[in-house]
Amino acid sequence: MSALDRYELRRDVRAAARRLAAAGVASADNDARLLAEHALGAPLLLADGADPDFSEHYEALIARRERREPLQHITGVMWFRGRELVSRPGVFIVRPETEVVAGAAIEAARQMIADGAAPLVVDLCAGSGAIAAALACEVPEAHVVAVEVDEAAAALARENCRRLAPGRVEVVRGDATDARVLNDLDGCVDVVVSNPPYVPAGAVEDVETARYDPDRALFGGGEDGLAVPRAVVRRAAGLLRPGGVLVMEHDPRQSEELRDAALTAGFTMAETGRDLAGRDRYLRGARRPFSSIPGSGTRLS
Ligand SMILES: C[S@@+](CC[C@H](N)C(=O)[O-])C[C@H]1O[C@@H](n2cnc3c(N)ncnc32)[C@H](O)[C@@H]1O
Repeated sequence: MSALDRYELRRDVRAAARRLAAAGVASADNDARLLAEHALGAPLLLADGADPDFSEHYEALIARRERREPLQHITGVMWFRGRELVSRPGVFIVRPETEVVAGAAIEAARQMIADGAAPLVVDLCAGSGAIAAALACEVPEAHVVAVEVDEAAAALARENCRRLAPGRVEVVRGDATDARVLNDLDGCVDVVVSNPPYVPAGAVEDVETARYDPDRALFGGGEDGLAVPRAVVRRAAGLLRPGGVLVMEHDPRQSEELRDAALTAGFTMAETGRDLAGRDRYLRGARRPFSSIPGSGTRLS
């Protein structure tokens, strides 16, 4: 193999993007560029060319992506709210829409600091620890506890949180819906945040998700996918102090059922927040209404 000049390098990246597009990869241009940068170890924009061993390495990466292996598994990293996390096969890859959900929990925790408290935040169904780490980094006053049932995910959450927010997040391996887990915190938690499994049975659409995300991370149980989310709502009601806030991600079609579930579980306010695409994306419940938020069963803009 010979070295590539800058034109040959860019030509090869364009050819790789065409191959990925033909294989059905939605973000073909982006992925071809990011895989080139992974092989180069530098931004493509700054590269004058590539070493002789680049082509073989790049070909191997593109072939994996062509077989629809997720980009994050190939590069070993994923991004969440501007932070790099380790990504590992067998553990759910955090999604962009979850950034808005974490943002709502961060806002709730910051509001509590404004009210004079150092907030206690619990992340139920923590996966890679992306939400817990974001909370710990963006709300330095918060104490954060994360609960995850899967051993590999809990280990990755510990690793990511240790690196991004050393000593700030306690990761507990256990069933987040079991009232015996964290029972010492019952009635004491300020904010519960969760992105639980919520996909309805058989509703996974893209190849990467179906092949590579664990079923336990995807399917919420039952035809409507709501068994785990409903159980998380009930557990959150037990953990939260009066005035505490739950922020929980869901499928856009589940907003009404989950507002009802929250009110049934003892929340006195339940509303729906939207993601950046304008889709109903998360439940926001409080143990009693905040004066700034009128009524219940409303939508946030
Ligand atoms: C959709 S993934 C979300 C992970 C992470 N919160 C995120 O946003 O990337 C759901 C996670 O919940 C975990 N999980 C499923 N059922 C659980 C339960 N009963 N208790 C604790 N964790 C659970 C799965 O192993 C998976 O890691």
